[in-house]
Amino acid sequence: MKKYKLLAGMQDLLPEQSYKWFHLEQLFSEWIKSYGYDPIRTPILEATDLFIRTVGEETDIVGKEMYTFRDQSELSVSLRPEGTVPTLRAVVEHHYLYNGPKKLWYYGPMFRRERPQKGRYRQFHQFGVEALGFPGPEIDAEIILMGWDLWKRLGVQGEIILELNSLGNLEERQEYKKVLIDYWEKNKAHLDPDSQRRLYRNPLRLLDTKQPELQALCEEAPRLLDYLGETSLRFYRELRDLLVALGIEVHENPRLMRGLDYYNHTVFEWVTPHLGAQATICAGGRYDGLIQELGGSATKGIGFAIGVERLILLLDTLAYSFERNTPDFYVISQSPACLLAGMQYAKVLRSEGFSVYVHFGGQKLAQQFRKASNLGADYALLIGEEELKENKITFKDLRGEKGQVTVSGSGMLASLKKWMG
Ligand code: HAM
Repeated sequence: MKKYKLLAGMQDLLPEQSYKWFHLEQLFSEWIKSYGYDPIRTPILEATDLFIRTVGEETDIVGKEMYTFRDQSELSVSLRPEGTVPTLRAVVEHHYLYNGPKKLWYYGPMFRRERPQKGRYRQFHQFGVEALGFPGPEIDAEIILMGWDLWKRLGVQGEIILELNSLGNLEERQEYKKVLIDYWEKNKAHLDPDSQRRLYRNPLRLLDTKQPELQALCEEAPRLLDYLGETSLRFYRELRDLLVALGIEVHENPRLMRGLDYYNHTVFEWVTPHLGAQATICAGGRYDGLIQELGGSATKGIGFAIGVERLILLLDTLAYSFERNTPDFYVISQSPACLLAGMQYAKVLRSEGFSVYVHFGGQKLAQQFRKASNLGADYALLIGEEELKENKITFKDLRGEKGQVTVSGSGMLASLKKWMG
């Protein structure tokens, strides 16, 4: 018989993992609510050309990592590799900025056909935030503060540091590109064939390389910050000062370039020393021309996305304690007739807001009690043959010291509340 297997770079999340996700998702929703951002949901499948000009034809994402295919009507479609561009496509399509700026968030799977390894998957999840229509730099500071605040809420603040840079505007970058190409050409002999190819197509990205043998060369390369005009520099300095005033430690990284073409001015990454090469937990920046590029009016924007798999890997590395939901009651019954009564009592308890796990499968009472303990239930609700005849039920405290009590079925809730205190 053929055995089917998970595709490379994809993950199944069985409950031992997925409860961590559930915990984090609840935390995300409280955190995002406290900043007043609104949720947006867009499809996973988009027209391929949406990403080509925006994320950039020369980027790794568009150049070699998208899952692209032709559908039955020969339209080229792609699984979304990221969430910013689809969000902006939807906002422009529905004229959603008609009455002013918007603060939005999204959450869901993204797809990139990368070489799979720890922290790098082909289907991964992003929790993303986009603030549209705010000139900054105050909104840039809020966007960065949000990440800082989330790490604080998770108690891992010292383990993730902020790297900040400015990419200036398009003209400044073009000027810098020329200087940088000159620099790489002079040092061409030290570059491997792949970097030699990228030298012209994407000279800025070479600075971001993780290759150890190129580090010294990158350190000595001309710095983009030195080619920024006064306006761009002032924006950058104002943001840096705002961050310091908000108590956020800033690590300036003039080599931080980001792997997507749509950024200008502010770019940042939240990185951790605990995850090896996949160090970036969260990344983002400003994309002032992107909405216009997508057919909207000239509107500024900034956002970030958290890689949820990486955040969970980090939390696991730091032995973070994820809350796992356990039932309040575990219903144990001695026979099929008792089981039906148990289901009816469970119905009553659930309507009072309790969580109740009903045991099915008719095992011995001792086995059922063992399962109740393994599941971490607080109380057992036991119905034996005797209890059933007399319309009674027994509650047993599985974790505390209340022992057990047998009460009449008709007055169950009142007796239970008294016994539970
Ligand atoms: P990005 O840097 O491509 O930015 O991705 C953001 C985060 O997603 C990364 O820092 C990382 O944590 C996670 N990530 C990316 N690729 C993978 C992968 N293959 N496996 C696991 N995690 C991954 C963006 O996507 C931008 N749209 C962020 C943004 C929002 N900029 C402005 N607004």
